[in-house]
Amino acid sequence: MGRDLHPFSLAVLLLSSFAAAAAKSADEGAIFELANSLSNPPASWGSAGDVCIFDGITCEHAGSGRVTVINLRDKGLTGTLPTSMSSLTALKELHLQGNALHGDFPSLAGFTDLTRLVLDGNAFTSLPSDFLKDLPSLQYLSLEDLPLKPWAVPGAIVGSSSLETFSASNASIAGAFPAVLANLSSLKYLRLSYNSLTGGLPAGLAELIALETLQLNNQISDAKLSGSIDVVAAMTNLKLLWIQSNKFTGPIPDFTNSRLEAFNVRDNRLTGVVPASLFEISTLLNVSLTNNLFQGPMPNTHNVSVDLAGDTMSRFCLSKPGPCDPLITTLLEVAAGFGYPAQLAETWNGNTPCGNWIGVICSNGNVSILDLHNRGLSGNISPAIANLTGVRRLDLSDNHLTGVVPDALTTMPNLIFLDLSNNTLNGELPKFKPSVKVLAEGNRFGESTGLENYFKLKSNVGMIIGVFIAVLLLITCVWLLVHYRRKKNTEKFRPVSTNGSPDESEMTKIQMAGTHRNSNRNTAVPTDYSQVSAGSTNIAYLFESHGMELPIEVLLKATDNFNEDCILGKGGFGVVFKGNLNGKLVAVKRCDSGTMGTKGQQEFMAEIDVLTKVRHRHLVGLLGYCTHGYERLLVYEYMSGGTLREHLCDLQRSGFTPLTWTQRMTIALDVARGIEYLHGLAQETFIHRDLKPSNILLDQDLRAKVSDFGLVKLANDTDKSMMTKVAGTFGYLAPEYATTGKVTTKVDVYAYGVILMEMITGRKVLDDSLPDDESHLVTIFRRNMLDKVKFRKFVDPTLELSAEAWKSLLEVSDLARHCTAREQNQRPDMCHCVNRLSSLLDQWKPTEVDDNDESETSEIGLNQQLEKWRCDDFTISDSDTFSTLNMSRKYNR
Ligand SMILES: *[C@@H]1O[C@H](CO)[C@@H](O)[C@H](O)[C@H]1NC(C)=O
Ligand SMILES: *[C@@H]1O[C@H](CO)[C@@H](O)[C@H](O)[C@H]1NC(C)=O
Ligand SMILES: *[C@@H]1O[C@H](CO)[C@@H](O)[C@H](O)[C@H]1NC(C)=O
Ligand SMILES: *[C@@H]1O[C@H](CO)[C@@H](O)[C@H](O)[C@H]1NC(C)=O
Ligand SMILES: *[C@@H]1O[C@H](CO)[C@@H](O)[C@H](O)[C@H]1NC(C)=O
Ligand SMILES: *[C@@H]1O[C@H](CO)[C@@H](O)[C@H](O)[C@H]1NC(C)=O
Ligand SMILES: *[C@@H]1O[C@H](CO)[C@@H](O)[C@H](O)[C@H]1NC(C)=O
Repeated sequence: MGRDLHPFSLAVLLLSSFAAAAAKSADEGAIFELANSLSNPPASWGSAGDVCIFDGITCEHAGSGRVTVINLRDKGLTGTLPTSMSSLTALKELHLQGNALHGDFPSLAGFTDLTRLVLDGNAFTSLPSDFLKDLPSLQYLSLEDLPLKPWAVPGAIVGSSSLETFSASNASIAGAFPAVLANLSSLKYLRLSYNSLTGGLPAGLAELIALETLQLNNQISDAKLSGSIDVVAAMTNLKLLWIQSNKFTGPIPDFTNSRLEAFNVRDNRLTGVVPASLFEISTLLNVSLTNNLFQGPMPNTHNVSVDLAGDTMSRFCLSKPGPCDPLITTLLEVAAGFGYPAQLAETWNGNTPCGNWIGVICSNGNVSILDLHNRGLSGNISPAIANLTGVRRLDLSDNHLTGVVPDALTTMPNLIFLDLSNNTLNGELPKFKPSVKVLAEGNRFGESTGLENYFKLKSNVGMIIGVFIAVLLLITCVWLLVHYRRKKNTEKFRPVSTNGSPDESEMTKIQMAGTHRNSNRNTAVPTDYSQVSAGSTNIAYLFESHGMELPIEVLLKATDNFNEDCILGKGGFGVVFKGNLNGKLVAVKRCDSGTMGTKGQQEFMAEIDVLTKVRHRHLVGLLGYCTHGYERLLVYEYMSGGTLREHLCDLQRSGFTPLTWTQRMTIALDVARGIEYLHGLAQETFIHRDLKPSNILLDQDLRAKVSDFGLVKLANDTDKSMMTKVAGTFGYLAPEYATTGKVTTKVDVYAYGVILMEMITGRKVLDDSLPDDESHLVTIFRRNMLDKVKFRKFVDPTLELSAEAWKSLLEVSDLARHCTAREQNQRPDMCHCVNRLSSLLDQWKPTEVDDNDESETSEIGLNQQLEKWRCDDFTISDSDTFSTLNMSRKYNR
């Protein structure tokens, strides 16, 4: 140096040593200012002298140079920190914990050597806006228990890339979890408990593989931390995880290969099956799982001490470790596909899925309906659903499901309805059997040029008309086949099998969607049931207080969870169960969700409305109803005598003795009265449309009531014929109804005529055991009537007929013939039938009429007058209504 020293270099040297001296004196000034602003500075601190010898101050070179450490921990200091502390830029450590310093914390921006900053337990109220800016050497940052104004961890912290400890519990950190922490890959200790953090854990936290301690417990905001904890499974060095008292959801992830020692997740909303892998962690010591929404099997905790309180315990399927029932296992796999949503977990726990789990509806212990419509579900459709083989209806519409629709769904044997609408499913929609109604609009299925898309493009109206016409043509063909195919043919159309069970005969029932029902009717349900009850007022009390709506639980109990042993019959759009409602026998009809289609609550209520309006002594009365998810249940009075069908054709099976002629006449009149009432005596005109012996129920005295109003159609007074959906049963369908769908009251008259023929002959309307030209009862009945001798052999051989009874039988046969006239205008009105039959019963007083019917027969004459008068002028007037009231009063024994 010396002589060769360049003047400029000299200047730089001089300047820099001058700068160093200036910085040193700035440090001294700052410490003196600090001493002044503390109300109780440490005793050794004076207002002059070398600050490097002050208690708690350390300088660069022992006793001289820049201040590098200030350690004033637990000195009981009060007061504030001066802004001049910002000039202590050589600081490596600042420890101020355990004091009561208050006010604003000064800026430390650009303290490039600062490694440790500890402020715990002071009373600072704010941090500078450049807090944590340019602190590249920071390793240890502790800010616990500070009553700060709410703040967010500044993004600048990312510059402190060597940070290993960040501890800031109870420090008023607010807002979303600081995603920037994910960039601090050296973090080993992160404690942010007792703050006001909200939202989920950023996925990026998976990068924190050095992290050993993670404490996020007890967030004090209402929202708390939420979402899944999957990301912590990636932190393979984690030893302590405390996330208790938050709102985390979803399942515990797989912790295989983890080094966890403490695992506290109590008081969250964690769901799903506790993974067995958790308790296989060899280092695990302490686990707390209490107060979550766990499901499925109880975990085997081996020798780990587990805090697992009773209520959480009782959510497991068994009270000891071990696999659950296969049904539960499958349902939980389905829930796993959705990420075990808390909304399902609330009810999907324990050991009894049937009747208790939301969206799950069982029948005989098998899940028959899974209705998870609009439940905010995300995730995938698990192929495990296909293992629920009993499912008929599967509704996953209006959720946020992603991924592909598993092919396995096409194998579900009983599936008839699948709704996937309004999700974000992609891939190809698998091909389902034609018997499955699939709704899948509002998804992202790959662009396919398949048939579904073609139909999607077509307007709905066009499609409905097309289908309607096609089905009409089909019906016409089938009808023509049944009626006119006389030539021998090896192929037979088999509408009804001779020894058919009720369900087989139901298969002959046709129903198709056409135009909609009249819906200009209000859907209010009378709540005061007792006033309109016609026959069974003694049951009314069951419903008085809550109207007619019954909770599903009551009906589940009444039918022993729809026990198969309680099935009374199948048909009429559902299965009918015998139920015991508070000791009263009832018939519970569980409407077939398939044929109900997408029929909504409103339409069902409209139907209930009809059912509550039509009340008559000879119509089976509705006692209540229930809607629950897709379940539509109707509760009727119970009829102990079985169906007319059983009394006519199924004698061997049912064990009934053949009906006498008088009994048949009485039943025929009962039915006629019921239908007559439907047609005109109720305030409005109703058409039954599916009249047949299996819909005629008998009580213990063999008095009849007409049932199954599933198809009852309201006819406008002005428009007595309507194009409508064709529904009914082959054999009983009037020709014009089957071919054109035109429905009038004469449709019921035709069916009634067929029933009369069946009662006279004891034969079924369609008997395919006979040659084709003899299989339709209406045709052969008419033919046989031409010859009295032949006809006598044709009538039911079990009938013992006196001469007088024979005469009456011939008259009824004549009536039956009229009723089944091809032209509807040649068929009589129902009131004519009532009239004819009641006069026959009146004129002919058989000896076998039972005694307690006396009052009734003596009234017939009066009724007859009334009905004659009514037939003359078939309009509905006040006087008609009056006469109805009179009649029902008389009939109430
Ligand atoms: C939070 O810190 C305050 C002081 O700022 C203290 O009074 C309080 O007890 C602390 N709360 C918890 C839960 O530690
Ligand atoms: C954190 O890291 C990611 C990727 O590693 C980067 O994209 C992001 O900008 C970083 N964040 C900050 C605040 O630097
Ligand atoms: C159970 O305790 C034994 C001995 O204390 C220990 O070796 C073992 O790892 C612990 N955990 C399991 C899962 O067995
Ligand atoms: C386990 O938890 C209990 C109670 O929470 C606690 O007292 C104990 O110190 C914990 N043990 C370990 C090893 O963490
Ligand atoms: C369905 O059940 C069978 C037998 O219980 C099982 O092997 C299969 O893995 C299950 N399928 C799915 C997709 O869960
Ligand atoms: C109920 O489920 C079992 C097993 O999946 C099956 O064998 C049985 O046929 C099902 N019963 C009904 C009525 O679907
Ligand atoms: C799907 O969403 C649309 C529009 O939000 C709605 O009109 C439609 O009813 C939804 N479909 C189903 C099946 O819920």
